Amino acid sequence: MKTLFSALFTLLFSQFAMSQPTPNYDESKVPDLVLPDPFVSAKGKIIQSAKEWEEIRRPEIFRLFEEQVYGKIPTDLDNISFEEVKESENPYPDQAILKEVNITVSRKGQHYTMRLNVFIPKSGKGPFPVILLINYSPKYPNGQIVEEGFWPVPELIAQGFATASFHAETVAPDDKIRFSEGIISKLYPEQLEQADGMRALGAWGWGAMRAMDYFENSALFDSEKSVLVGHSRAGKATLWASANDPRWAVTIPNESGCGGAALSKRKFGETVQVINTSFPHWFNDNFKSYNNKEEELPIDQHLLVSLIAPRAIYFSSAREDRWADPKGEYLSLTLGSRVYQEIFGKKAVFPLEFEELQGPILQPSMGYHIREGEHNLTPEDWKHYLEFIKLNFKN
Ligand code: GCU
Repeated sequence: MKTLFSALFTLLFSQFAMSQPTPNYDESKVPDLVLPDPFVSAKGKIIQSAKEWEEIRRPEIFRLFEEQVYGKIPTDLDNISFEEVKESENPYPDQAILKEVNITVSRKGQHYTMRLNVFIPKSGKGPFPVILLINYSPKYPNGQIVEEGFWPVPELIAQGFATASFHAETVAPDDKIRFSEGIISKLYPEQLEQADGMRALGAWGWGAMRAMDYFENSALFDSEKSVLVGHSRAGKATLWASANDPRWAVTIPNESGCGGAALSKRKFGETVQVINTSFPHWFNDNFKSYNNKEEELPIDQHLLVSLIAPRAIYFSSAREDRWADPKGEYLSLTLGSRVYQEIFGKKAVFPLEFEELQGPILQPSMGYHIREGEHNLTPEDWKHYLEFIKLNFKN
């Protein structure tokens, strides 16, 4: 019996091992990169001006990401309303006012309510610049308090920012079966039938856009000084949300890796096949056709950076987070920087190779750092982000 059991176990285990490709962590095995050119349109036109960029190339690139990777983020709605509720204790009563805001959206006779938690400085004079963190930690389903350092509310408040967070679960559950149980099936059910329809990452991006609607609607916030931050999977959502919504002045995807900051065609660490297998509910259906065929993707993540230009963007990596491919994250930022420089005349220069990087690179429109340690959002990351944000909001 024991032998039969162990034979069965070995068989099952080897099946599992076979279905999980081993990630590549060897730089010499990275394929030669053939990347789509930001400056050549689908019809072969060379893009030289901001006008040509905005009218021809940007819409083309945007549509490719929508169609082939993330899916649409629908913005049509019939009504949006904001209601303050009181359900939790304010953990920082001396420094901040806590507002728990129910954002209710109606479309075609259906209603859906998401929750946003907002801390506003008690001292100082508004309107306050605002930092939104998309939060997905299963430990804090109300989206409010996370590990020490992950969302450093007192520190952000002390520096004169309002800061807000919503939990992914309040918009779309992070679950391959239940993901549509939030806004997707309630407000936008037709998206589910579309191969380029909205899935979880798009829904989280939609949530960020509704939070922005709230900031714009209130005199407490200086919504033109707005920052969108997300860690890892929420970093992927952050990037796609900002590509969709130019109201975000600063975009910070922390260690967002595959399907976020990192170039897919390097196939280093997590690959398209692996991410689509473990998280089939994050990207749209079309993205699955690039499983193990990254070279066929008509875009790569440097073009996602270009969609955010000329607004400020900051990427970060952690040395031990090889799953997220730190070098691929740096490369996509530096390749995307060409649009900042050549189309928009921004100073965004990255003369150093990844291997030569010493400290953070801080320029007003673009920044990057790699820190020691593992995959996480830490006080050290926030320290650099605050410097970058202040550089952008100095006037
Ligand atoms: C997994 C996943 C990553 C993701 C990460 C996270 O590791 O493979 O793509 O970024 O979870 O969200 O922490």
